[in-house]
Amino acid sequence: MAASLGLHCHHYHVAAAAANPLRKAAKQALSSLILKSSKPHHHHSCCYNSDSVGAKEIRSPDLVALEYADLNLFDKISGELGHVRIRQHVNPLSSSFSVPAQVPDWKEVFRDPTLPLMVDIGSGSGRFLIWLAKRNPDSGNYLGLEIRQKLVKRAEFWVKELALTNVHFLFANASISFRQLVLSYPGPLMLVSILCPDPHFKKRHHKRRVVQKTLVDNIISHLVPGGKVFLQSDVLDVALHMRSQFDAESDALQHIDELDPSVPCDSDGWLLDNPIGIRSEREIHAEFEGAKIYRRLYQKRT
Ligand SMILES: C[S@@+](CC[C@H](N)C(=O)[O-])C[C@H]1O[C@@H](n2cnc3c(N)ncnc32)[C@H](O)[C@@H]1O
Repeated sequence: MAASLGLHCHHYHVAAAAANPLRKAAKQALSSLILKSSKPHHHHSCCYNSDSVGAKEIRSPDLVALEYADLNLFDKISGELGHVRIRQHVNPLSSSFSVPAQVPDWKEVFRDPTLPLMVDIGSGSGRFLIWLAKRNPDSGNYLGLEIRQKLVKRAEFWVKELALTNVHFLFANASISFRQLVLSYPGPLMLVSILCPDPHFKKRHHKRRVVQKTLVDNIISHLVPGGKVFLQSDVLDVALHMRSQFDAESDALQHIDELDPSVPCDSDGWLLDNPIGIRSEREIHAEFEGAKIYRRLYQKRT
């Protein structure tokens, strides 16, 4: 069932590129430019600078557009929303984000609200989840939780434009609203992803990070047996912060290479490959700048 939510859908991605020779050629041309223009480096916070590498020919937003070219979102910009300017971080502990999101009528937001659910925490622009929902129209529902309302509005605008009935975005502080939302969902919770969460670098701001004990407990208790948690970050400290909390739950969770030793991990236990088959936006930007992505994939014990 995890496959139906996109965990094993790498072939979709490859097939999509192969089916469109122009896109494939463009991708190859871009890749060779990137190889020429970007120098790998691993400084933690480098990727949160907007102008760090000397890539003259290509910028990472072009790569985002290319990665999600199949969605044809270029021309789908709402006049009402206009250009969406986004502040880098919000403070999720501020009182303005402490109000729980209203639980939707699931029948209104999903055509079949009994399908297995994937929740993406901190869904950003939403393109990642929209891409998965479009690839898997009948096998799963996709819920994005995002604390920046403008991003949610634009993502929902795209969902309507694309007439997708298996993906929905909610303006929500996941730390406050996750439990109530998944508790009320009529189908099984199959997959939770937390991709490149805001790093909140300063130690005194670590409490603003989204992965905290309560959220971990809520994820574990609401996942179905066999359900999965996928984490990643391009910031090692953030990845370790998430990992230590999920590794500590080994009574409930197993890392995927324990179950399937053929899954390639490096010597520190980070997954070598993206298991989803599509990269998140932050992941595209970070890889463009030469960063490593630290990934973990857990399965709830049956
Ligand atoms: C660095 S971005 C990554 C976006 C996307 N996951 C990606 O990989 O491209 C982190 C996102 O998490 C959102 N976020 C941060 N704290 C959150 C919270 N407590 N609840 C929901 N979303 C949150 C931010 O607004 C931002 O859009």
